Amino acid sequence: MTPRELSLDRFKHIVFFTGAGLSAECGLPTYRGKGGIWGSYDWRDYACQRAFDRDPAAVWRFHDERRGLMADVEPSLSHRIIAAVQAAHAQVHIVTQNIDGLHQRGGGVGVIELHGSVWRVRCGCAGPAKEHREQPIDAYACPTCGEWRRPDIVWFEDPMQRGPLEAAADAMQDCDLLVSIGTSGVVYPAAQMPEMAQARGALCVEINPEDTPVSGCYSVQLRMRAAEGLTELFPQIVAEVEGAA
Ligand code: OAD
Repeated sequence: MTPRELSLDRFKHIVFFTGAGLSAECGLPTYRGKGGIWGSYDWRDYACQRAFDRDPAAVWRFHDERRGLMADVEPSLSHRIIAAVQAAHAQVHIVTQNIDGLHQRGGGVGVIELHGSVWRVRCGCAGPAKEHREQPIDAYACPTCGEWRRPDIVWFEDPMQRGPLEAAADAMQDCDLLVSIGTSGVVYPAAQMPEMAQARGALCVEINPEDTPVSGCYSVQLRMRAAEGLTELFPQIVAEVEGAA
């Protein structure tokens, strides 16, 4: 037993809220901080509708490169721990800002993707987004209208997608344990979601080696990496996951 160990039985509804720090453990770069993507690339050139309208090929090159990196890594121990908690407990939601699909590959189910997925494409004319995993993407043109299809991602200046936003808000407002992992808490509206859980009386835990602007929302702050923090909270689950590996 560690002092921070949490018994799953204590909680009715658990929400994991994740960001790029989780996938950093797989070897993917984060967006901010040392080695962060937005330190090397200007989002105004690669991650907004205006850039796509100006130069869709350049925007696709950027995303194809990222898709290649994401396809080359495996889900981390942390992704598998989260999936194991989900399998062991009746009500667990995973709300992620990550677009890499690693939660699903690590066994997570019903993942709420607040910022979309790099593995789907969409076009204004043709209804819902479609899965598209080819490396690199081989059919940029929409088969219906011939226009460029874009990644199904919430870029800067885009409106949020209503379905995931509402599903995430519902989960936050109903949960009694929120575990936030690896997010800098600077991108809104995602960053304000933990406040919803806090306002409803949930136990809020932040796992991040660094302080964030929203750290005050968390009554437990684990200044450590994702896998270490999850091991503090759920040692038995971690032992099972490691035993099964
Ligand atoms: P950031 O890159 O802004 O923040 C990553 C956070 O992870 C930082 O606070 C780090 O301290 C922390 N971190 C790094 N390594 C870690 C580790 N091993 N374990 C735990 N934490 C670690 O990423 P996000 O907050 O996810 O938008 O960024 C939010 C959004 O901004 C992203 O969804 C992305 C970006 O523009 C889209 O992709 C649409």
